[in-house]
Amino acid sequence: MNTIKKNTKPTLLSGIQPSGNLALGNYIGAMRNWVSLQKDYNGIFIVVDMHAITVKQEPAQLRKRCLSFAAQYLAAGIDPQENIIFMQSHVPQHAELAWVLNCYTYLGELNRMTQFKDKSKRHNDNINAGLYTYPALMAADILLYQTDLVPVGADQKQHLELTRDLAMRFNNAFSPTFKVPEPFIPKEGARIMSLQEPEKKMSKSDSNENNYIALLDPPDVLVRKIKRAVTDSGREITPDSMKNPGTGNLLTLFAVLSELTPKQTIQRFEGKQYSELKDELADALIAFLEPFQKRYDKILSEKDYLTNILEEGAEKAQYIARKTLSKVYRKIGFVAPGRS
Ligand code: TYM
Repeated sequence: MNTIKKNTKPTLLSGIQPSGNLALGNYIGAMRNWVSLQKDYNGIFIVVDMHAITVKQEPAQLRKRCLSFAAQYLAAGIDPQENIIFMQSHVPQHAELAWVLNCYTYLGELNRMTQFKDKSKRHNDNINAGLYTYPALMAADILLYQTDLVPVGADQKQHLELTRDLAMRFNNAFSPTFKVPEPFIPKEGARIMSLQEPEKKMSKSDSNENNYIALLDPPDVLVRKIKRAVTDSGREITPDSMKNPGTGNLLTLFAVLSELTPKQTIQRFEGKQYSELKDELADALIAFLEPFQKRYDKILSEKDYLTNILEEGAEKAQYIARKTLSKVYRKIGFVAPGRS
């Protein structure tokens, strides 16, 4: 009975790279929507460790972070009974399909990817082939599972467009094989900005920790980071404050955490000092993150619990991924094993 009901639901899939500290931008742009959409979808949530090694990682830290990210997915409210949660590297079909898709991706398309351009500037001592072909791996993540909807922040829009193009290209070249996925980019909070340099996005791997709020930051650190956040040179909130990168970002954070519209948020703070906005935002963050962190600690204290979820997740994922990959291999002309 349960299986029949499940199969009628569309598939939702998303992932986060275990690089740096999972940040408020990731939560607001992506995870928050995973949680709110999960009841209407078959959810697939991946810790994309293979993507993370496109920039240098320290092995011991990466290992720890992978588990920490999975635990934070659960702490955010992803129900492990109803969704599939796993490590990308536990499902070899991702790398296999990525190779095939690489052979259908044009250099011109990869050259246009703004994330590649940004990251090669930031890591100019390590501009590797993986960083360049990464969008084909992301397309494989999505297309293996016949995904309907991909909740992401605005910075992933271009990768999603390429994924759709690759799906259509493959379907046209052979026959319908992949579902063409739709992005889900939230209206509010699709691009949360850095706290100290609000003209750039908040990034979990920023070398300046004061630029982002980590979901695991303790209350005193949260308060300090918000106090230090850059605003414009005024003192009072006005309807125009929303347009200022720094002040507008703090107002957006408050709006999202308090489930208010931007207009309601301005009404609430109009005429108040910036320091009041910062105090209220810090309180709202603590009220949200303290219970999150308690759940996280509990999950990590039961070690087998997480390992079992990931093992089961990888098994379920492989079952679906194998089906898609064998279709792909057959269509492109590979001989099935055991046949001559
Ligand atoms: P990543 O790890 O950089 O970010 C994870 C998610 O967080 C969103 N995000 C933000 N949203 C709002 N404001 C911000 N400042 C902000 N920073 C990050 C991202 O848009 C993303 O949704 N390539 C992806 C990971 C990935 C993936 C996938 C996603 C790999 N395979 C398949 C979806 C489906 C990435 O690097 O995200």
